[in-house]
Amino acid sequence: MITHESTFPVHRYSFIEKLLFQRVRFTPSKLAQELNGKTILITGASSGIGEQVAYLLQDFPVHLVLVARRKENLMRIKYEIEKNMATVTIVAADLRVNDELEELICLIQELPHGLDIVVSNAGLSINRSIYESLDRHHDFERTMAINYFAPVKMLLAFIPLLEKNNGQIINISTINAVLVPFPRWAAYQASKTAFDSWLRSTAIELQRNGVSTTSIYLPLVKTDMIRPTEAYDRMPAMCPKHVAKIICKSMYTKCKMYRPWWLPIGQISSVLFRGTIEKVMMKTTGRGNRRAGS
Ligand SMILES: NC(=O)c1ccc[n+]([C@@H]2O[C@H](COP(=O)([O-])OP(=O)(O)OC[C@H]3O[C@@H](n4cnc5c(N)ncnc54)[C@H](OP(=O)(O)O)[C@@H]3O)[C@@H](O)[C@H]2O)c1
Repeated sequence: MITHESTFPVHRYSFIEKLLFQRVRFTPSKLAQELNGKTILITGASSGIGEQVAYLLQDFPVHLVLVARRKENLMRIKYEIEKNMATVTIVAADLRVNDELEELICLIQELPHGLDIVVSNAGLSINRSIYESLDRHHDFERTMAINYFAPVKMLLAFIPLLEKNNGQIINISTINAVLVPFPRWAAYQASKTAFDSWLRSTAIELQRNGVSTTSIYLPLVKTDMIRPTEAYDRMPAMCPKHVAKIICKSMYTKCKMYRPWWLPIGQISSVLFRGTIEKVMMKTTGRGNRRAGS
């Protein structure tokens, strides 16, 4: 299999990272059995995690629909993948733009075999102090537009299709959605938490009608998204290929969620020691920023 490194060099785990991010036991034969002939939509497939999920699926008999704004990236990825077993349709669309989202919806609705799996991965993060945001209401609008409204609108259209095929929705969420919120990330965290909550709220109804949902709670991942924040250069972070395995494994286990083993400890601490955690944050806030979000 060809390996793809995206725009990041290979990320070799340190001792601490090996402890924090345990290996996944991923069985390609189980995935092959599960995915045979299926159609998988991946939003945000032009880089990072979405790109690596697409590459991991290239050796399986699947139809991938890859969505993002950067058409040239999508074309390069399609070219590489179609040297292997998967077939690829690319859709260059800004999912915040209604007409472009509608076009994607129409394309999917016209597929003869419908839709089996949605990997809701497209996202935007912004690292900016609230005091630098007083005249930037648009930051809150654009994060909500891509991290919340776009996947909600898309899924409202796709739920009937997923029901027909006993499909699955996989949300690429963040550990911050279930921990004490970090300062400077209000726009990102509020919008990611909104969609996380939306999906968990719909999950029980969906499951009754044969649609599974999976929430993937991720810590830092070495992708373009964290590059602007200098402090993250020195912090433990997952490799996007490792994350891709976790996501693809969930396609055959249909697990309700993935979370790092230590996240429950963080969740309990968030409740029990919120005051102390906030005091520590107060002392450390505002350091190490290369530039604010894009
Ligand atoms: N990296 C982390 O530390 C981390 C941690 C937890 C969760 N996550 C989540 O993981 C997901 C993937 O992020 P990543 O880390 O792989 O970063 P990334 O490389 O920046 O990927 C983001 C993807 O979203 C797409 N996208 C952004 N805005 C879009 C829009 N308006 N319309 C269509 N596509 C759009 C981007 O493509 P175009 O620019 O070509 O449109 C890109 O393919 C995000 O949902 C993020 O919140 C990341």
